[in-house]
Amino acid sequence: MKKTFSFDAAQGISAALLRWFDVHKRPLPWRERYAPYEVWISEVMLQQTQMERGVTYFQRWMSRFPDIRSVAEATEEEILRHWEGLGYYRRARFLHQAAKAVVEKHGGELPGSKDALSALPGLGAYTVDAVLSIAFEQNVVPVDANVERVFSRLLDIGSPIRKKPAADIVKREALRLLPEGHARDYAQALMEFGALVCGKSPRCTECPLAEWCEAHRLGLERERPVKDAAATMVPVTSAHGIILCQKHVLLFQRPASGLWGNMWEFPGLDRVSGDPLAELLSMLQERGLKVEVLAPLGSVSHGYTNHRLTAHFFRLGLDEGLAMQDISKKLDGIPHRFVRWDSTGELAMPAHHRKMAERYFMRKVRVYAEQLHL
Ligand code: ADE
Repeated sequence: MKKTFSFDAAQGISAALLRWFDVHKRPLPWRERYAPYEVWISEVMLQQTQMERGVTYFQRWMSRFPDIRSVAEATEEEILRHWEGLGYYRRARFLHQAAKAVVEKHGGELPGSKDALSALPGLGAYTVDAVLSIAFEQNVVPVDANVERVFSRLLDIGSPIRKKPAADIVKREALRLLPEGHARDYAQALMEFGALVCGKSPRCTECPLAEWCEAHRLGLERERPVKDAAATMVPVTSAHGIILCQKHVLLFQRPASGLWGNMWEFPGLDRVSGDPLAELLSMLQERGLKVEVLAPLGSVSHGYTNHRLTAHFFRLGLDEGLAMQDISKKLDGIPHRFVRWDSTGELAMPAHHRKMAERYFMRKVRVYAEQLHL
């Protein structure tokens, strides 16, 4: 492993990287103006999200929330609705809180100092450094997984990249290579280069930094970076019922705190340990809902944090004579709503519920269309 770059190597790498970025940078929407608000939103969205997906969500977000004030004034429901599908919903809730704080304390404009940004809810070291360098041209370097990968190869770092001493070496060397006056392009060039050339499968034949790359010289580029022991995925099984009443579907609202906070879903259990249907029916019975099983609807697989979820869904029927008001009375104290079956799109739902809603209600549309010979 190399601990540092020579002065010449440092200069050569920075210059080659900036030249490469100039030619290969992707035309991303927040690169048009580098407005601090847009840079902030893009950086939060891109954490845990692929670029293409991030761009789609970014554009939809900006057409609904063109400035920080509009985020601050929105309801949490709307914020979540625009985040739905990106996962890690805590990020969206923090964005909402941070936007309110920016309006209250900074007149609606994102501040350009490390202290003020770090004091905002949800802005960790990475986001703060990304906003400071990309939006405000300040001499800091955001270190994400791309930057870690690039430096782990250039220096051939053979110890776990997120731990000391590796993490400190990456931070120090990334900063040492920063060419004065080019913080914005340098930060983005590192990330873009890590995404497009020095990716998980490195494209060394077209790499403009190959001559300085220690891992490449040793033929070890595919062994870098060294990661911590992978977190094992925990399998989880859940069970949910689709219950219709007078063309409306029953949805429960999740508690504000915890996983998928405040989102809407088909009534059910996040975790079952035995027979999903039996546990689902007994939970509903405890809440005073007597249902019959009309049909199993299959399952949806969904990954979140370190869980691999298999969610089972069942079409359940209520006593025909019951009206929505009767059911609401039984559910007194449980936050719930009846929503027209073709309007669930207006509420934020966890991804596995959304997948099933689309699958089930699209089938319903097809059956209607066939019945009407459309
Ligand atoms: N990934 C996260 N932020 C990025 C950026 N600003 N440019 C390229 N890739 C990124």
